[in-house]
Amino acid sequence: MGAEQTPKTPVSMDTIVALAKRRGFVFPGSEIYGGLANTWDFGPLGVELRRNIKHAWWRFFVQLRPDIVGLDGSILLHPRTWEASGHVDEFNDPLIDCRNCRSRYRADTLIEERLGIPADGLSLEELNRIIQEQQPACPTCGQRDWTPVRQFNLMFRTFLGPVESAGTPVFLRPETAQAIFLDYRSVLQSSRVKIPFGIAQIGKAFRNEITPGNFIFRLLEFEQMEIEYFIHPNGWETHFEQWLDAMQAFLSYIGLGTERLRRREHGPSELSHYSKRTIDFEYLFPFGWKELCGLAYRTDFDLRRHQEYSGVDLTYFDQQTGERYLPHVIEPTMGVDRLLLVLLLDAYHEEDAVDVAGKPYRRVVLRFHPRMAPYKAAVLPLMRKPELVAKAQEVWALLRPEFPTDYDETQSIGRRYRRQDEIGTPLCVTIDYDTLEDDSVTIRDRDSMEQVRVPIAELVAALRERLAL
Ligand code: GAP
Repeated sequence: MGAEQTPKTPVSMDTIVALAKRRGFVFPGSEIYGGLANTWDFGPLGVELRRNIKHAWWRFFVQLRPDIVGLDGSILLHPRTWEASGHVDEFNDPLIDCRNCRSRYRADTLIEERLGIPADGLSLEELNRIIQEQQPACPTCGQRDWTPVRQFNLMFRTFLGPVESAGTPVFLRPETAQAIFLDYRSVLQSSRVKIPFGIAQIGKAFRNEITPGNFIFRLLEFEQMEIEYFIHPNGWETHFEQWLDAMQAFLSYIGLGTERLRRREHGPSELSHYSKRTIDFEYLFPFGWKELCGLAYRTDFDLRRHQEYSGVDLTYFDQQTGERYLPHVIEPTMGVDRLLLVLLLDAYHEEDAVDVAGKPYRRVVLRFHPRMAPYKAAVLPLMRKPELVAKAQEVWALLRPEFPTDYDETQSIGRRYRRQDEIGTPLCVTIDYDTLEDDSVTIRDRDSMEQVRVPIAELVAALRERLAL
């Protein structure tokens, strides 16, 4: 048995979407009602992968560092928050409608995709001018009859109180960051943090995106992992560089290769209203280089505005130097869902292999880092015979408290190995007739497909050593 590795080729989105559904990573949302566009649910394997991403992030940035503490803020924040943060006025995308078929697009995306002109961050006037001069065809009906480009605010609005018309309008947060700024003072007062320090949060964010899509790349409802790192106003450049390295180190920690990863600095017109410098980590998706995550220097924009709008003093007093100032902020931000998509794409490999019966086949394998793999091991009785099944169940019970472990007694052993390869399980543990004699099992490695024999008494330690979690 062996595998001849073929060079890694970019996998198509259709392949990933189909695998994600077939194997229980991601399902279309509300499917039994015909679906709700651009909503997705995470199945038994997807939810494990999500948990692994979030757990790794928390461990890497909160648990292992002395200078970062956690927070879990509300999704609904005081409405003034979004006036202060600039999101009411600035968090817009340029929208355009086809007058003929009423299809709606983001004007900058339309220009980029139909005309090949980079349009990120262009002003309304510039977008309108390009549309008028170039008259792109509508991707849906082919006509060239466009409304003027106008701004569309991306925040979802809802109401507090039982009567909608009399209720107070509130927004579902479009970023987790603001809860951190609102609680920054409480964190300072309740803990022993000293500048420089960070507050980390994982939580849902919502954006009424005009053009969601590309599977789970751009969602209406998604999860962010954000840190607001509070620093003295002098020397932000050093912190910024250190954070670029820390983000890269985290991406390596979760097993992401550097082959399809690059950094891209935002141009002046592209910068968010709060940012003085932003660098995106981009990934080469099947639909091109796109943002995976980013690092922004938010200056003191947010604290200054919240201080102004709330009337509460948000300055920091340094007891050693006697200096009082408004801290500046460096913000590393990542999306859980987008990272999950990238991990699926990056892990996907196809190669020619030969099965246990000597037959060649095309092997699909998700080469997740063991830290990310939904199951760390799978227990497989060689055949569905009562004595093998009973022993395999015993071994499964031994492993379950140690790490997420799958069990499968259906179909041939070759097919079961293929299934485990396809869901990225690093190690399979096979129970055969020799096991009943010598209390040993076979460990099969997902990547090399090599097999070794190990006594059950040493199994947990042997798996731990190989997984190197
Ligand atoms: N607090 C800064 C902030 O929210 P952002 O670049 O708008 O910055 C941060 O979002 C990250 O959240 C992105 O890098 C991406 O990973 C993720 N993200 C943003 N919009 C998303 C969407 N509509 N669907 C899925 N993930 C999204």
